[in-house]
Amino acid sequence: MTAAAPSAAGTPAEADPALLRIEDLSMRFPIRRRGLFARTTGHVHAVNGVDLTIRPGEVLGLVGESGCGKTTLGRCIARSEKPTEGRVEYTGADGRVVDLAGLDRRELRPYQSEIRVVFQDPFSSLNPRMNLLQIVGDPLRAYDLATGSELEERVAIMLRKVGLSPAHMRRYPHAFSGGERQRVNIARALITEPRLVITDEAVSALDVSIRAQILNLLRDLQDEFDLTYLFISHDLSVVESICNRVAVMYLGKIVELADTGELYRRPRHPYTEALLSAVPRPDPRLRDQTRRIRLSDDFPDPAAPPPGCFFHTRCHYAQDRCSTERPDLRAVDGTHRAACHFSADLNLVGVGTGRSGRPGDGD
Ligand SMILES: Nc1ncnc2c1ncn2[C@@H]1O[C@H](COP(=O)(O)OP(=O)(O)OP(=O)(O)O)[C@@H](O)[C@H]1O
Ligand code: SF4
Ligand SMILES: [Mg+2]
Repeated sequence: MTAAAPSAAGTPAEADPALLRIEDLSMRFPIRRRGLFARTTGHVHAVNGVDLTIRPGEVLGLVGESGCGKTTLGRCIARSEKPTEGRVEYTGADGRVVDLAGLDRRELRPYQSEIRVVFQDPFSSLNPRMNLLQIVGDPLRAYDLATGSELEERVAIMLRKVGLSPAHMRRYPHAFSGGERQRVNIARALITEPRLVITDEAVSALDVSIRAQILNLLRDLQDEFDLTYLFISHDLSVVESICNRVAVMYLGKIVELADTGELYRRPRHPYTEALLSAVPRPDPRLRDQTRRIRLSDDFPDPAAPPPGCFFHTRCHYAQDRCSTERPDLRAVDGTHRAACHFSADLNLVGVGTGRSGRPGDGD
């Protein structure tokens, strides 16, 4: 917790390692029945009571199957969505701690230029009728940061930083390849000099070789501009290569959180074990040591999450208690946290550990 109790209006930040502290965050979308007498028939629990801290300068990975709530969590942080409940405490460049979840549009403005998003699709996310100067310069105009020749100069500098030629700033998106368009996306996100960048599947649509170049670019830019990333991805190989810590999400909840090496070597949640078992390993020795854990396709309905542990309907280790009692996310080993009643007892298989995954099988 912050020593000072921050308010939506903002209070001075005390010495605190958190750039962003999410507390009990929930986002529920109404399900509406269509027709003459349209009414709300239920809610999709896209994000469900998430607690998460993002430390300054880290790359925090957010992984999980499609529909688990990764994008919605990112959108709540960037405030493209207003969360239904909870707090998003952000320590601004001005040193003040604010609850982004409680701010109105006017109050949000200065912070939205500090928290920016890079989206997945380099094709659909760029307006085909705007040239590079307009696309990359637009946030400068929107946040009243620069106009005219200063704006153009800043766009030219930023294009160079992402490996594009400023000579091309009057060209339109169709003239660029997928990798180049993603560089444009990154330039547009970074032009406001943000402190936190949320990358939402930013390399997923790219070919493997281009993906490596964009990952290198993100790393270089992080060093140069002192950035913090929330790196959203369903690709655990990519996450392993770039993230310092990883949060695993299932049905709107964080079920495991640990340093990357620790999480991959020694997962403490059966869901993480299953995700890791599906990661392709180029080294045949490592391939032989892990068996693929197949999860059933019946991903529960986020409008009606199961009772007890949300994962119990698909978990190979579930016991009676799991269907009635919900496990909290709690420390298992140092800073390693997991939400499983049996995480201290299970001997789960990580990547390349070669251990047996069944409880009681031993090392
Ligand atoms: N605007 C919306 N209205 C209603 N439901 C929504 C909305 N946005 C997301 N959802 C639902 O919320 C849940 C979480 O979706 P979200 O897009 O955050 O998942 P995700 O983990 O990013 O998935 P993916 O890996 O496919 O991108 C899903 O059930 C989705 O259908
Ligand atoms: S609490 Fe039970 S169902 Fe949930 S992950 Fe742990 S063993 Fe599986
Ligand atoms: Mg998504």
